[in-house]
Order: sequence, then structure tokens, then C-alpha cells
Amino acid sequence: MRHTIQFQKKEGSLFDQILADREKAGGTYGTCGGRGACGKCRVRFLSDAPLPSFADRKFLTPQELREGYRLACMAKPYTDCEVEICFAPEREIRIVTESELSAGAERDLRDAGEQGAGGERDLRNAGNERSVQKADEGGERDCFCAVDLGTTTVVMQLIGRRDGRALSTYAFQNPQRAYGIDVLARIAAAESGKAQALRQMLLTELENGLKKLEETGKPQEIIFSGNTTMGHLLLGYPVSGLGKAPFTPYHIQTSYFDLSGHPAVFLPGISAFVGADIVSGVYACGMAEKEELSLFIDLGTNGEMAVGNRDGILCTATAAGSAFEGGVSAQVMGTDMTALAADMLKSGVMDETGLLAEPWFAEGWRRGELTITQQDIRNLQMAKAAICAGASLLLERARAWDRIAHVYLAGGFGYYLDVEKAVAIGLIPRTLCGICAAVGNTSLAGAVRYGRSQKAAREEALDRIVRISRPINLAQQPEFEARYIASMAFAEME
Ligand code: FES
Repeated sequence: MRHTIQFQKKEGSLFDQILADREKAGGTYGTCGGRGACGKCRVRFLSDAPLPSFADRKFLTPQELREGYRLACMAKPYTDCEVEICFAPEREIRIVTESELSAGAERDLRDAGEQGAGGERDLRNAGNERSVQKADEGGERDCFCAVDLGTTTVVMQLIGRRDGRALSTYAFQNPQRAYGIDVLARIAAAESGKAQALRQMLLTELENGLKKLEETGKPQEIIFSGNTTMGHLLLGYPVSGLGKAPFTPYHIQTSYFDLSGHPAVFLPGISAFVGADIVSGVYACGMAEKEELSLFIDLGTNGEMAVGNRDGILCTATAAGSAFEGGVSAQVMGTDMTALAADMLKSGVMDETGLLAEPWFAEGWRRGELTITQQDIRNLQMAKAAICAGASLLLERARAWDRIAHVYLAGGFGYYLDVEKAVAIGLIPRTLCGICAAVGNTSLAGAVRYGRSQKAAREEALDRIVRISRPINLAQQPEFEARYIASMAFAEME
């Protein structure tokens, strides 16, 4: 059943009033952060429809306009009125709550005198609802809460300090998605006066999560990992420096604060683009303790990468859009999109340039309920090119092409990836495919390792990672563009 709200002109914009009422409205709020660019925030005025905006005319048919449909973010109602919410249902997003550090990585951590980041965390959620899962009660109450604060999803886990077991998990989609799917949209929203709203909607959900987790045990501390923008929005730091050159964070060191009466810490990051989630991932994989070189890749709306060993780490990040988090128009998970692209390439539906053959160019290619459009292919192609160009540049700078011993694929994308298909479309070179390990949610795993380690040792370990890491801004690298173009082809990498 569709939900209606009573718009009150004196209460501010229609879009903001709908967001405030989002618990009841359900559905997705668009992906452009209220800029009239995605066409997803449809509403229908049951009376007094305002004149259509330019964006309304772009996304809605004349018939729909006559029936009172408008885009909520662009609508400027003249008066109080009743509005029906018609947003599309939120697509399902997989939330990876477990990490799968290889036996080798766990052993390395034990050899280093620590307890490892793993433990029996065997929860793997799918879905778009808040979800709570409890592991068997172990009677353990010496626990802490590890949080992976992602741009798309948030995972909170109550961890037993002694054995690293996940006692309870609370996972949800980041409610800030209402203001856009990526960090740039969130920064723009914060800059336009919505910083407090963004912060509050997240705090509300975190507090809900804490209450649920506390049914199992009271955490002695809360450890947050996440990208630099998520950290700034949570902590109420100004984000003005994050969205424009020279991309200067307000605060990048470890932050200590209080959350609902619990001591909390947000782990340190390296730069505006390479945040605590990557420091945490590097820590979880033990990269900065190994002599051999490793390549770490975390694919989401941003692709973050690091190459190095205990002597030094080069890291960078590149925008990957929504392709690796799921093709928005096709409702396909990013990993499935990679597999489908490989199949389309093999069967001749698509050529190496990413062009669909006729009749699929015009109509899209159907498999079951799904239709893959030319735009879906382009999104994947641009994301793939950005990742390949970034990773190859890092590997070359580190003179590491033929010396890489481990490739860690972090995040939901890496977790579900079919490596052979990724090789077929040129996302991963064949030479590296034998050493690839899908390691799951390393941002969370790093927070777990931090929580289980001695105070002095954990602080020294993260300080060291930050100290030996050097971020590279791809936009300032003259060869990046040529590499990007060269990486567009859907073909095995040389
Ligand atoms: S058009 Fe994207 S949120 Fe309104």
C-alpha cells in the first residue's frame, strides 16, 4: 500500500519532510542526493500539484505530469497538501559481515603474538532490512562492539574479547543514502546545510543497533572503522576540505568520543580518499608485518587499493560508481554483472569494446527476469577501467608487478567474485589469479583485531601503518588517463 504524507509548507522542503518520515515511506530515495538527476524520488500530488520542473519533464511522461506526478526533490508546493510517496522499492544489497582471512594471514597474526582478527564469525546477511543475528550464547560478557561504517551499509558486531566470536550482529543500510549513494553526494548535502540531519539519522540507527546488541552483552568500547567522509559526518567534523582540491581532511588521526555512554574510537586514516577502512583492512591482513609484497583491493562505490609490505605501502582510491555495488538500473549485484559480462563476451552478445550487438543494443540483453542495458555495461566498463588503471599504476610505482605474493580482495564484491570471470573481462590479470584471496569485510576484521589487542600494541600498529603509507592522488598522475582508456577493453589483461 502506498504511503501519503501531509506536506506543511512552513516546515521546509517536501524532500526533507519525506526523509524525516522515511520509516513509514520505505523504498529508495534516489541516488543523486536530491539534485534532480536520478529521477527516482517520485511522488504524486493528490491536490495542488506545483508546476513541473525541468527535471520533472525529463523523467516523467506528459500523462504522468497531468496525473500529478513530480520528483520530490525538485517540487516546490505552493501550499499545504497531501502527497503520495511512489518511490521504487529499495533494491536488495548484500551485507558482508564476516571476514575470511586466509589460514596464512591468521597464522601470521598469531606468529606476531596477537590473537588474530578472525574467530567464528559466520554470519552472512543479505537483504535490505535491518537485521540482527545472534550466535550461540557462550556466556562471554567481556566484549566490545566493532563497527564497519560504510557508505552503503553499516555492520555492528558484538565481539567476545577472549575468543573473537561474534556474539551478535546488527546490520543495516546507511540511512544517509537518502542524500546520495556516494561520498561526494554526502559531502555536497552536508555542505548545503544537511550535516546535522546526516549525522542525526546515522546516530539514531547506531543507537538502535546498540540497544539490540546490549540484549546479548554490554560492550566495554566501540571501535569504528570507515572511510574518511563517513568518519567526519559521524563525528560532526567539517567536510568542506574533503570535496575539493587539495582534499584536506579536518582530522585524520584516531578520534576518541562518547556514544550513548560508551567510550568509542574512530580509527585513523591516511588521507581524504584512503580512510580508516583501508588502514583497518591492511591491519586485518597483516600486510604491514609481512616481508612479501601484497596487493589489497576493496571494491565498493569507491575502489581503494594498497600495495606494499612492512617497509612501505602505496595506496590510492578511485571512484567506481555503483557498478561494483550493484547495477542500479538492472538490479544486478556487481559480482553478477561481472559474470554476466564475461558470458556476454564469450557468446558474442557483446564485443571487447563493450558494445552490445543488435538487437540487444536497442532492447538490452535479457536473462530470466533481468535486462542488461548498454548503460549497465558502460557503468561496469568505467569502473573496471578506473580500478585497473589505479592498480597498475600503483604496482608500477612500487616496482611490484612480478613480486606480488598475496592479493586480498576485500568487501562484498571480492567476497562473491568469480575470479575466472574477472580474468575474462580483464579486471584481474591471469598472472595474479592464483594468489587472490577473497577476505570479506576487512574493515570490520581490522576493528575486531584492534579490539582484541593490547592498547599499546594496537596503537603502535596503526600508527606504523599510517607512517609507512603514502597516498597517491590518481587525478594528479599524468599517465592515469592513458591507462584508464587502455583498460576499457573487455579482454584478458596482458
Ligand atoms: S531526482 Fe534523485 S533524489 Fe530526486
